[in-house]
Amino acid sequence: MRAKFDRVHDVYKEYVRIAEREDLKDKVVLKTDCHNESGIYNHSIPIVPVMKEAKKVYCLELDEDVIRKAQKKTFDKLDNVFVNHGSISNLDDCYVNNTFDFIFDYSTIDHIPFEDLKETLISYKDKLKVGGVINLVIWTSDKYEIENNNQMYFPKKEVDDMIKELFVIDKDEWLLSAGCHKRLWYYRGVKE
Ligand SMILES: C[S@@+](CC[C@H](N)C(=O)[O-])C[C@H]1O[C@@H](n2cnc3c(N)ncnc32)[C@H](O)[C@@H]1O
Repeated sequence: MRAKFDRVHDVYKEYVRIAEREDLKDKVVLKTDCHNESGIYNHSIPIVPVMKEAKKVYCLELDEDVIRKAQKKTFDKLDNVFVNHGSISNLDDCYVNNTFDFIFDYSTIDHIPFEDLKETLISYKDKLKVGGVINLVIWTSDKYEIENNNQMYFPKKEVDDMIKELFVIDKDEWLLSAGCHKRLWYYRGVKE
């Protein structure tokens, strides 16, 4: 079995395609983090232009510098997009339960400690409406590892078990490798 992509830039393009595949018209969306890591798109939050048709898009970012950089660019030209300062670990501070039709988390969740992973996934589920969809991209490994830049690699087996316990998974793809056992995974899950 091989990863779907060899180059990280192809993964960033896939992030946009994942959003394009969803019917976002009149939907309420949570997009976690405001970082444009690749810089290959003009928009400060690359998937946001895909969301023009959505009713409301909330972008939740922890780092105020990242928010300031994003605000200098283009998101504020879309009047359905709102940026919130906060943490995915404390969603109750920002949103009530059963709010979102979609959550897109592209490698935000792997910046929290492993001990908080399950609680965070549970709160994603709480914030989704029944029938709502999570698109989650997450770094995994054979074991729990942390790199200097606070990138976490979560144990694949535990991640799998948690996600499959909480959501009905209809896509489960190996997107990319980084080193021999570090693997980026994409899950699409539905809240039943
Ligand atoms: C690796 S970047 C994500 C890459 C980005 N999704 C992209 O597509 O280019 C991680 C981002 O998550 C933010 N972040 C880290 N922990 C967070 C938290 N607990 N809540 C919200 N955002 C967080 C960081 O400030 C940073 O902007």
